[in-house]
Amino acid sequence: MAQIFRPSANTVVRLALLALALLPLAGVGLAMGVVRSEYLTGRDRTPTQPVPFSHAHHTAEVGIDCRYCHTAVEVSARAGIPPTATCMTCHSQLWTDAEMLEPVRRSFATGERLRWTPVNRLPGYVYFDHSIHVAKGVACTTCHGGVGAMRLTRQHAPLTMGWCLDCHRNPGPRLSRRSRPPVPPRFTRS
Ligand code: HEC
Ligand code: HEC
Ligand code: HEC
Ligand code: HEC
Repeated sequence: MAQIFRPSANTVVRLALLALALLPLAGVGLAMGVVRSEYLTGRDRTPTQPVPFSHAHHTAEVGIDCRYCHTAVEVSARAGIPPTATCMTCHSQLWTDAEMLEPVRRSFATGERLRWTPVNRLPGYVYFDHSIHVAKGVACTTCHGGVGAMRLTRQHAPLTMGWCLDCHRNPGPRLSRRSRPPVPPRFTRS
C-alpha cells in the first residue's frame, strides 16, 4: 500500500500540536507584558501642559516648599494643584512680560482656571489618600521620583496594584526614619 505520509510527518504534526497548545500561554504572557508595559501604565509619560511649569526651577532653584502649592497633601486625600492666584503671588511682580506666562495672566484676569493635564491618575475605583502616607513618612519622591529635578512633570511610578502592594507588604525600608513635623511654608501670602 502506498504511504501517503512519510514517517517524519508524525513529528511535524506533534510539533504543530504542541505549538497550538502553547499559543494561549504565549498570548497570556504577551497580555501580561503589555499591561505592565510603560505604554499602558503611563510610566515616564510627560503630558503637555498649558504652561511649561518647571518644578526644577521653582523648587530646587527658587526654593519653594512643595506644600506652598500642594497645600492639602498632609491633611487630605488629594494634594491639590494650586490655583492661578498662587502663581500670581510672585508673577504679578516677577517676569510680568514673559510670553510663557501669558496663559497665567489671562487666567487670573478672566477667573478661568488653567487646565493642567493630570500626570498621575488612578482608576476611579481605587481608594488612595495622601495624608496617611505622608504622615507615616513616605516621602513625595518615593512615589513621584525626583520632582525637584524635573523641568516638565513626569509620571515616575507604574501606579499598578502590584506597585501599591509591593510597598504595603514591607513598607519599613521605604519610610523616612522619622516622619517629619509640619514645616511652615517658606513663602506666605500676605
Ligand atoms: C510653585 C508651585 C509649585 C510647587 C512649589 C510645587 N509644585 Fe508640584 N505642581 C505644580 C503645578 C502647577 C502642577 C501641575 C502642572 C504639572 O503637572 O507640572 C504640579 C504638579 C505636580 C505633580 C503631578 C500632579 C499630577 O497631575 O499627577 C506632582 C507629583 C507634584 N507636583 C509634586 C510636587 C513636589 C514633590 C513638590 C516639591 C518638591 C512640588 N510639587 C512643588 C505647582 C507646584
Ligand atoms: C515664590 C515665587 C513664585 C511662585 C509662587 C511661582 N513662581 Fe514661577 N517663577 C518664579 C521665579 C523666581 C522664576 C524665575 C525667573 C528667572 O528665571 O530668573 C519663575 C519662572 C517661571 C516660568 C518661566 C521660567 C521657567 O524656566 O520655568 C514659568 C513658566 C513659571 N514661573 C510659571 C509659574 C506658574 C504656572 C506658577 C504657579 C503654579 C508659578 N510660576 C509660581 C517664582 C515663582
Ligand atoms: C504613597 C505614594 C505617594 C506619596 C508618598 C505621594 N504621592 Fe502624590 N500621588 C500619588 C498617587 C497614586 C497619585 C494619583 C492619585 C489619583 O489619581 O487619585 C498622586 C497624585 C498627586 C498629585 C495630583 C493630584 C492630587 O491632587 O492628588 C499631586 C499634586 C501630588 N500627588 C503631590 C504629592 C506631594 C507634594 C507629595 C509629598 C508631600 C506626594 N504627592 C506624596 C502617590 C503618592
Ligand atoms: C512606598 C510605600 C507605599 C506605597 C507605594 C503605597 N502605600 Fe499605601 N500605605 C503605606 C503605609 C506606610 C501606610 C500606613 C500603614 C499603617 O499605618 O499601618 C499605607 C496605608 C494605606 C491605606 C490605609 C490607610 C487609609 O488611608 O485608609 C490605603 C487604603 C493605602 N495605603 C492605599 C494605597 C494605594 C491604593 C497605593 C497605590 C496607588 C499605595 N497605598 C501605595 C505605604 C505605601
